[in-house]
Amino acid sequence: MKNEKLKSIVSEALEGIKKALKLDEINELRNRFLGKKSELSSLGGLIATLPVEEKKTFGIEMNEAKQLISQAFEEKLNALKQKALEEKLKKETIDISLPSREVSLGARNPFYIVQDEMKEIFIGMGFDVADGPEIETDLYNFELLNIPKDHPARDMQDTFYIDENTLLRTHTSPVQARTMEKMNGKPIRIICPGKTYRRDDDDATHSHQFAQIEGLVIDKDINIGHLKATLELFAKKMFGEKREIRLRSSYFPFTEPSVEVDITCANCGGKGCNMCKGTGYIEILGGGMVHPNVLKMNGYDPEVYSGFAFGIGIERVAILRYGIDDIRKFYNNDVRFLHQFKKKD
Ligand code: PHE
Repeated sequence: MKNEKLKSIVSEALEGIKKALKLDEINELRNRFLGKKSELSSLGGLIATLPVEEKKTFGIEMNEAKQLISQAFEEKLNALKQKALEEKLKKETIDISLPSREVSLGARNPFYIVQDEMKEIFIGMGFDVADGPEIETDLYNFELLNIPKDHPARDMQDTFYIDENTLLRTHTSPVQARTMEKMNGKPIRIICPGKTYRRDDDDATHSHQFAQIEGLVIDKDINIGHLKATLELFAKKMFGEKREIRLRSSYFPFTEPSVEVDITCANCGGKGCNMCKGTGYIEILGGGMVHPNVLKMNGYDPEVYSGFAFGIGIERVAILRYGIDDIRKFYNNDVRFLHQFKKKD
């Protein structure tokens, strides 16, 4: 660059840019050296007055000066931006060693904890898990279980009717009939957990909705000893080795003989206390040998096959297991209750 004026403008600009520390200083300088009212811009106006032979070199040098200055601006701007970014990042560093806010996990309803445990115990004994509808027909809920229309046992199992023949099942026993129908004369060993309904006034020990686990075994030479051994094993696995069971004679239209099964009271170990009302035993289920009429109605020859069945109240087992004092607690969704069953690990 030969033109002294241009040279001095460029060096002044570069000096200024070098010293500038802030973005607005840079902007101001850019205006001063490259703006419309800058010295460079007014020098440009001189070109017209120059002799032809000087015009070209002056034009070239003028452009060169502009380029040098713009490039210096560009570089400085980038450097300043980079510096600003670094400072920002430094200020905003996240302390990853800080403990995070606790995410509160829910707890399983003890009903499901117990239901799963019960299922596991029976699956371990070789039972399959069957299923059946909660909305049932009169046929499966009553008729095929030897409970005809005028049978007095119906009084104890009033329920919610959808129409005259469709109802919410009162027990899981209709799955007995459904399984026999499906298995068509072949041996059976199933359990069926599920919801059941009765027209009850809710209180601490009654709920219009509750749940049972049905059990059904049908084969040749099945006797009541098999029923007792199965339930004894269940009771010990569920409530502890020390528990004993006792079978009391009872009545169900679909079993003969029928039994009610009690376990020794965990609270007093069988001596008698408030919890077992002084008897030393607590009832946990009903069962019996499948009635020959039920076998016959559902396609099994009672001369060849025999079987046992039982129905266990799931909430009842959970209540005894955890010492819960009110069946409604399973359904009220009170987190203070549920959190007591949180898994501790
Ligand atoms: N279904 C009966 C009830 O709900 C229980 C039961 C099941 C009894 C199977 C005998 C055999 O009371």
